[in-house]
Amino acid sequence: MKTNIPRIIAVSSGKGGVGKTNFVTNIALIMKSLQRRVLLMDADVGLSNIDIMFGIAPKYNIKHLLSGEKSIKDIIARTSEGIDIIPASSGIRELTQLTYYNKMKIIEELETIDNDYDIFLIDTGAGISDNVTFFCSAAHDNIVIVTPEPTSIADAYALIKVLYKEYGENNFRIVVNNIKNPKEAKETFRKISMVAERFLGINLDWLGVLPYDEKVKDAVIAQKPYVSLYPTSDFSKKLAEIARQLLKREVDLFKGGMQFFLKKALAKE
Ligand SMILES: Nc1ncnc2c1ncn2[C@@H]1O[C@H](COP(=O)(O)OP(=O)(O)O)[C@@H](O)[C@H]1O
Ligand SMILES: [Mg+2]
Repeated sequence: MKTNIPRIIAVSSGKGGVGKTNFVTNIALIMKSLQRRVLLMDADVGLSNIDIMFGIAPKYNIKHLLSGEKSIKDIIARTSEGIDIIPASSGIRELTQLTYYNKMKIIEELETIDNDYDIFLIDTGAGISDNVTFFCSAAHDNIVIVTPEPTSIADAYALIKVLYKEYGENNFRIVVNNIKNPKEAKETFRKISMVAERFLGINLDWLGVLPYDEKVKDAVIAQKPYVSLYPTSDFSKKLAEIARQLLKREVDLFKGGMQFFLKKALAKE
């Protein structure tokens, strides 16, 4: 019997470049400051970014795990802020499409470290590829990042549609990023929730809003997490609010998650 089941939170968006990696990196730090043991997984397996955001160059990555050379504990890298990350590899094309055995291997390995963490935070990468839907369907919480751009709204909806129709996921929590005024945030949420309700018959949850802030890019260039550099900014406060909201809502850890997904996936084979 397991003593600890980590909560799996997947962050996706459909469209790339909307702020997922920035979001996961910084919310991981906030959750750590709220006494949670966080593992941050870079699941953009073909094009890694999280290591760059923290300014580290891990020796091993998911490629070494999948080849059997290393175990999950060997590839986990700790940042100077004390965040544990599972690094992805960059420029390895075959990893852009994980095989069934790759996925099972990842699940099995993650299960061996269940006791060490409270939260598995997954940066799924862009698009609606099989890799993305795999990690989203294995999560307890699905956070979808959108920006006010119509292309972002369209791509987020496309992802939600696939996850609902093909995987039966119906719980999505929306974060609106790059906001220049409060009206823009409400309008963006209204647009995406309206189409989801009309065409899929599901209600999307509002999780929070993050302002557009030039300093986000400065932090990326400095390769230091934004919340460490600017802990009192509006962006950092809003992100902390999102983290608290997220942790406040209890989820049934026996529903969904890797265990459940494994059963679902095996039943399909
Ligand atoms: N709230 C924000 N304000 C300003 N720039 C942002 C904000 N969020 C993200 N960015 C910038 O947008 C770009 C894409 O962000 P990133 O997190 O890499 O997106 P994704 O992981 O979705 O591709 C980066 O240059 C990042 O600095
Ligand atoms: Mg990214």
